[in-house]
Amino acid sequence: MAVLVTGGTGYIGSHTVVDLLNNGYDVVIVDNYVNSKPEVLNRIFKITDKKPRFYEISVQDEEKMSEVFEKENITDVIHFAGLKSVAESVAKPQLYFDNNVGSSKVLLKLMNKYGVKNLVFSSSATVYGVPDHVPLKETDKVGGCTNPYGQTKLDIEYLLKDYAKEHKDANIAILRYFNPIGAHSSGLIGEDPQGIPNNLMPYITQVAVGKRDHLNVYGNDYKTVDGTGVRDYIHVVDLARGHLCALKKLEQKPGLVIYNLGTGKGTSVLELVHAFEKANNIKINYVICERRPGDVDENYADCHKAYEEMGFKTKLDIVDACRDSWHWQKNNPNGYGD
Ligand code: NAD
Ligand code: UD1
Repeated sequence: MAVLVTGGTGYIGSHTVVDLLNNGYDVVIVDNYVNSKPEVLNRIFKITDKKPRFYEISVQDEEKMSEVFEKENITDVIHFAGLKSVAESVAKPQLYFDNNVGSSKVLLKLMNKYGVKNLVFSSSATVYGVPDHVPLKETDKVGGCTNPYGQTKLDIEYLLKDYAKEHKDANIAILRYFNPIGAHSSGLIGEDPQGIPNNLMPYITQVAVGKRDHLNVYGNDYKTVDGTGVRDYIHVVDLARGHLCALKKLEQKPGLVIYNLGTGKGTSVLELVHAFEKANNIKINYVICERRPGDVDENYADCHKAYEEMGFKTKLDIVDACRDSWHWQKNNPNGYGD
């Protein structure tokens, strides 16, 4: 009885693997290191004193994936593997489609072949496109994605819905993450973006550690509390726990279910900057600049469904996340290194 974690050496995957191992799950990881490093496995061992079995392969590789399903007694799959850079997806839409949608197809084919019923999938709030209201509920309209990356998430959601219609005994939890930030409290694992970070928190921590001169704040004329964009920042350790809640939920054989994973609270760019400054006693230099194309004013979750149906509620807040992100960055100025 093992949980297959695709993309298990990535940012969210590694935190989830730690939580799974600490809760007695037998874990098998598949990752091709396209956006992660082998060092993550050493760090997971340092935290948990356990070694998950690991296969360096692409989920797109049906033959090699088939060998994993043959060898391991997989009962559940958590599917994190995917490319996630919005900018890269605009430049290389086909690569994103092939990798993200293609790997999901392979996985479903093999789950069907080997009788694996339970799947947790990493979706994103990006499937809501440009929201006409907040907070966002799971029943709100999806579509109108502003980039190919977001479109792959929506395409996979449809693929999973079709699969569930055809396979009545399949249990699938689609988790729509809002904005994951923070790191494990040990400072041993965290977010390790390659090159210039696209997302806000890693940019802030790189300014704090002296790798970047200042933060560019993308616009202060949004219809928000202080004019800067508002998002729902969820601590990655809470988010990881959400996957264990989802696995428990799937034991009840619910068919296909969809949950937002967020905090239900919006935070502006400047509020996050000031929270970081206060939590860590570090000044973050910033410059207000042009809006970033594709950005929306506000985006935060209605989280009632995840609480009511699987008992998931966040325990950590943005202050914890600011402290933990900084702890990780300070101890690992170059991430996991080369
Ligand atoms: P990440 O890039 O850190 O982790 C993804 C992992 O998948 C990496 O280790 C990468 O090497 C691996 N991978 C990619 N393609 C693969 C393939 N074909 N075969 C095997 N391994 C492959 O990203 P993350 O932040 O941990 O995100 C995990 C998942 O959650 C992704 O699917 C992402 O789209 C989704 N998500 C992330 C966010 C976010 O802000 N981080 C928000 C919403 C949804
Ligand atoms: C972005 C992606 C989204 C993806 C998510 C998680 C876009 C348009 N959206 O969401 O598809 O699912 O990341 O990977 O890229 N900001 C700054 N300066 C920075 C970085 C960000 O001011 O250097 C602001 C943004 O304008 C936004 C907020 O910070 O208001 C959060 O940005 P980010 O962390 O990139 O997340 P999202 O825009 O929500």
